[in-house]
Amino acid sequence: MKRRTLFRIAGVGGVVAATGGLSACSQAVPPEAIADWRGPAEAQGDLRRWVLGHAILAPHSHNLQSWIVDLDEPDTIVLYCDLQRLLPETDPFSRQIMMSHGTFLELIAIAAREKGLRSEIALFPQGAFDAQAIDARPVARIRLVPDPSVTPDPLFAQILRRHTNRNRYDPERPVPAAAWKAMALAARADGPDGWLRFGHVGLQDPPQQLQRHRAIASQAWAIELRTPRAILESFKVMRVGAAEVARHRDGLTLMDPMVVWMERLGLFDRSKAPGADDFATTSQIAQFDEKIASTPGFLWMVSQGNDRATQVRAGRAYVRVQLAATAHGLAMQPLQQALQEYPEQAGPYAAIRDLLAAPAPAQTVQMWARVGYAPAVEPAPRRGVQAHIRKT
Ligand SMILES: Cc1cc2nc3c(=O)[nH]c(=O)nc-3n(C[C@H](O)[C@H](O)[C@H](O)COP(=O)(O)O)c2cc1C
Repeated sequence: MKRRTLFRIAGVGGVVAATGGLSACSQAVPPEAIADWRGPAEAQGDLRRWVLGHAILAPHSHNLQSWIVDLDEPDTIVLYCDLQRLLPETDPFSRQIMMSHGTFLELIAIAAREKGLRSEIALFPQGAFDAQAIDARPVARIRLVPDPSVTPDPLFAQILRRHTNRNRYDPERPVPAAAWKAMALAARADGPDGWLRFGHVGLQDPPQQLQRHRAIASQAWAIELRTPRAILESFKVMRVGAAEVARHRDGLTLMDPMVVWMERLGLFDRSKAPGADDFATTSQIAQFDEKIASTPGFLWMVSQGNDRATQVRAGRAYVRVQLAATAHGLAMQPLQQALQEYPEQAGPYAAIRDLLAAPAPAQTVQMWARVGYAPAVEPAPRRGVQAHIRKT
């Protein structure tokens, strides 16, 4: 009995690690789940599918891939959000979902340029969603227009190489000034003057500054782990072991052999959150703290206002920043816990706004991420272009 309990605790510990995306995979992800990272086959006929073959590699919160596209009208992509793929507990107003549509739109625009196409993007063609909830209206209508003046975007080369990296980073190796500069330039996406402020802190700065970032990230993560409904939301999209990963090709991948065995033996009950002081929780806090302590740089993106178009534009800017970092061989991981608008995070939410001089409600911290050098990670699964095409 004792032995069984021990196994249960150890197993859930590994599982919780994955909900924060913090455990290194020790088994290979099934090849079919990551085949999309080879890139789409060379375009034949309809260029939209080739463009979309790149867009589906965009980062999306919890890897939910909530993109649905309607291709009925020639040369046009109408983008919708799959309302079954939201995170109502941790992202109650779907701000991160909108950012994750921005990342998709930006990869459409970059890939289209590679083929000499200009993307005419009309956001919210039937009106923007209200501030509280999103609905079935389209997020964007994109017309791909041949234009001889369009030039390729150098960031295109990074699309197949970009991955979110949740490893420990090299604590001694600073992010070079040239890389920060490239990221700052990449963040300058279209929008009203001064709509987005990009900032960063690193080993070149006074150590107390880095420490303040680390402390808030750590506090926010501990709160998330101790908020049962937040953890259960992650459990719902957790894919444990090769068979589940291959079946879903989305969500949070967990390949740790021990947890896979726990799952097979029925010792991991994903309907229950671990207790606040269980080893499962405290060990994950300790692991996260170690990774945060190893982090040599943080970046942030603060917007004026927070309407739906701003959220989408922030997502466009974020993926450009990550692609620019990838070109410099840098790893990146968003730290959204403190930015999440559920009541338990009120403390870290206020602290990060204060640290970044982003007063509510005029400004919103759309992105906060850790940056550094780290061992490579395996790609996250994707569902393939066909899964995103709206069936009429
Ligand atoms: C708006 C947004 C918020 C995200 N927040 C987090 C986060 O808090 N922690 C994390 O580890 N990854 C975060 N991610 C990264 C996603 O989990 C990641 O994009 C997804 O799992 C797919 O993996 P990939 O980026 O390697 O393709 C976020 C991504 C986006 C676009």
